Amino acid sequence: MLEVDGQGIEVDPTMTLLDACRRAGARVDAFCHDDRVASGGHCRACMVEVGARFFAACSTPVWPDAAITTRSERLDAYRRDLGELMWTEARVAGEVAHALSRWGAAGTRYASEVHTAPSEIAKSEIDHSHPYLRLDLTRCIRCRLCERACDGIQGQHVFSFQGRGATTRLGFGEPGLPFVRSACVACGACAAICPTGALSDVDRDRVARQVRTTRTTCGYCGVGCQLEVHVGLEGQDRQRDDAIERVLRIDGVRNAAVNAGHLCIKGRYAHGFSRHPDRLVSPLLRKNGHLTEVSWDEALDFVTSHMQRLRGAVGGLSSSRCTNEENYLFQKWMRAGLGTHNVDCCARVCHAPTAAGMKRSLGTGAATNALEDIAHADLFLVAGSNTTEAHPVTGARIRQQVLRGRAKLIVIDPRRTELAEVADVHLMLRPGTNVPLLNALAHALIALELVDRDFVSSRTDGFDELAAFLEDLSPERTEATTGVPARLVWRAASLYGQARRPMQLHGLGMTEHVQGSESVMLLCNLALLVGAFGREGVGVNPLRGQNNVQGAADMGCQPDLLTGYLDPQDPVIRSRVERLWGAPLPTHRGLTLPRMYDAARTGKLRALYILGEDVVQTDPGVHVDEALARLELLVVQELFLSETAKRAHVVLPGSAFLEKDGTFTNGERRVQRVRKCLEPPAGAREDWRILLELMARSGIRQTLSSPQDIYREIAIFAPILAGVNYERLEPDGLQWPVPTPEHAGTPRLHTAAFPIGRAPLMRVRFTPSPSFGFFSEEDFPLKLVTGRVLPHYNSGSMTRRSAHADLAPRDAMSISPRDAARFNLEEGSEVLIESPWGEAKARLEVSARIADGTAFLTFHHPETHTNALMGPYLDGLADCPEYKLTPVRIRARSIAP
Ligand code: SF4
Ligand code: SF4
Ligand code: FES
Repeated sequence: MLEVDGQGIEVDPTMTLLDACRRAGARVDAFCHDDRVASGGHCRACMVEVGARFFAACSTPVWPDAAITTRSERLDAYRRDLGELMWTEARVAGEVAHALSRWGAAGTRYASEVHTAPSEIAKSEIDHSHPYLRLDLTRCIRCRLCERACDGIQGQHVFSFQGRGATTRLGFGEPGLPFVRSACVACGACAAICPTGALSDVDRDRVARQVRTTRTTCGYCGVGCQLEVHVGLEGQDRQRDDAIERVLRIDGVRNAAVNAGHLCIKGRYAHGFSRHPDRLVSPLLRKNGHLTEVSWDEALDFVTSHMQRLRGAVGGLSSSRCTNEENYLFQKWMRAGLGTHNVDCCARVCHAPTAAGMKRSLGTGAATNALEDIAHADLFLVAGSNTTEAHPVTGARIRQQVLRGRAKLIVIDPRRTELAEVADVHLMLRPGTNVPLLNALAHALIALELVDRDFVSSRTDGFDELAAFLEDLSPERTEATTGVPARLVWRAASLYGQARRPMQLHGLGMTEHVQGSESVMLLCNLALLVGAFGREGVGVNPLRGQNNVQGAADMGCQPDLLTGYLDPQDPVIRSRVERLWGAPLPTHRGLTLPRMYDAARTGKLRALYILGEDVVQTDPGVHVDEALARLELLVVQELFLSETAKRAHVVLPGSAFLEKDGTFTNGERRVQRVRKCLEPPAGAREDWRILLELMARSGIRQTLSSPQDIYREIAIFAPILAGVNYERLEPDGLQWPVPTPEHAGTPRLHTAAFPIGRAPLMRVRFTPSPSFGFFSEEDFPLKLVTGRVLPHYNSGSMTRRSAHADLAPRDAMSISPRDAARFNLEEGSEVLIESPWGEAKARLEVSARIADGTAFLTFHHPETHTNALMGPYLDGLADCPEYKLTPVRIRARSIAP
């Protein structure tokens, strides 16, 4: 108990004087304090009196019986003087300027360089080099919040204060460096926290009339960050009633379970695409070889009649960018309306091997743990994931835990990623050798006697057989194949085996191989051997790529499983589904996407409906181009005239995640609300409305008329989602399984048992990819791995239509300095990349982050043709293409003037 301005307040010892003042409702300005970062005590604005002494309230713990005074003559005089001194060093703005004027310090009596020579100072202190972040250090009060946010939230350590006394300045690298070339990753945490506007983002500087703020879920990656989307009217039109609404700014939701207010460059800034002039605003129908604008009625009639005409030879690719409700409708239309199980989604080209591998090893093909477990883990094994670029908010959390010494880190990756730089052990393997490396790790765990014998004997099968199988697969024996020194494998096994809470996170570097599913089984083996399931901070956790790839699979957008992973061949399930849908289910087995391409090439598949995927740019070229060209009917529902849409017979303009209601399911199985923040552009329609219209025209009887109705049907359909409804998803969603309306959701799977009972320990022999047959020093000396860079997302259709394009305007191919010298190539040169199957062109980057003999290329720009390089090889169980091992050679390319 203590007193604030004479009022008695209950406190606990963890509180500060500032907390106590706030609890008492007393106003104490605190410019350099924010609950999200550690206190710094730099600005001295929060000074209060206790007895005859002044204390910085933000950084002074409470003590019993303290009598705090927040207003007194002495404090008023102190604050006035402090305010005037602040004016001498900064052209104060924002909330700080308001506070200073309340203190009676609207200016300064003292001489100030900042105010007397602003133009000279501005030259060195204003930096507009970055497309999103603006620096005007003449406004900086040296409160250091930006530095602490950058260090403590993102872990990027961009800022440091340079100089002493009055000459102290915020720095971000060597003097003279433009900010855009600093280590900044544009997460925006600094601009969101800066109290003076010295650091601001362009979106905050806009002159606009704000109309509303809506909470929704990010539509980029599978982390599922919660956004506050501010929509308004901007520019000259802003007073007109018919002015067009647009996104003004996006903030993170401060108390959201997934991201606690933090965002990355995509979630915060990549919203310009929603009002981009390239948006499709009319249906297009190919007439005389040209895509021609037609009415919605004409387009929908055409699609319905021709899909029905080609019934028996149709297929559909649903979209992981779309909502659960839309994915559910899509597969229902395919199955009940068009009589086919030929329905798939882009999980086929990313994490289908995860689902297949985990299902065989554990019984459920989804993340075993919650993202909040990152705070509980004492070791991370990050395998085949460049997390800080592909899943930035999760990557930042992992990095923070490691930098604070709370967890060890093992990284398996052929590149020295940002996480690899801070890892305790980096296993820099040769591409395509995951299986021998993971077997060697299991060998070492057993040899070091780090196996959890109780867990293994009570919950797994096949330990003795596995131990015998692994006997010959020691780190020393596999070193020549993997390229990883045996001592590092022993060290990694020793760390993993000794950790109390080892948490695995894996990405496409594990799955996009011919033995992708089997690699995931071997990751499960490691966790099973050490008993890392069913508790906090452990498990096997795929980092889902697209925002709703988990949801698209949950909804049954795969040929062999219905919504909720129900088996369509089970007679009991069949009759239940047929009753619910009022239509017979097809009896044949469906085709995966690569098999649909095969069937199209041979004329067995004649119509394909693609919802929101640009397969020409993202799927292996040898399959796609020829297959699409053979189709009698290609329908594409899209935001832009993508490379795939350009080849279509019908194009239907759909909607972006900001423009519709529904739900997404993130990579930790969390179903979260998506809320409409603004209308689609006139002429475009919400995707669920388009699908309902097509279903109605296909004669499917139903009463669904809103996303909420659709979700009610999903909950009836799928036992794992039976307890989910929109009301229960407030505010932070629910993690499935949620079997009843009373169930609180399941952050951690497999607590007591696996769905398959005892988990089998898998014995997987390394079967080198056929791609290895092409690698020879003369023909194709480099192993190419493809992937993403931070500013862009997948085909880049949304991020390229924002200022992200300024940060990464081209795809770049990286090779090591030694390989650059070997091939006589220089940084920045234009190169032609050739594989046995195709060619691509890009700019060369020489990078010490990549091993000799390995190359890395992004695929965000259509003109690069990255996927034309890919071969025909697929994962043996899940048909996922082998994106992470392509034999290539490169040479300089001359550019036409
Ligand atoms: S730039 Fe802003 S947040 Fe950073 S020290 Fe200056 S005033 Fe504080
Ligand atoms: S980490 Fe993923 S979900 Fe979060 S803001 Fe970035 S892109 Fe969006
Ligand atoms: S808020 Fe306490 S010293 Fe700045």
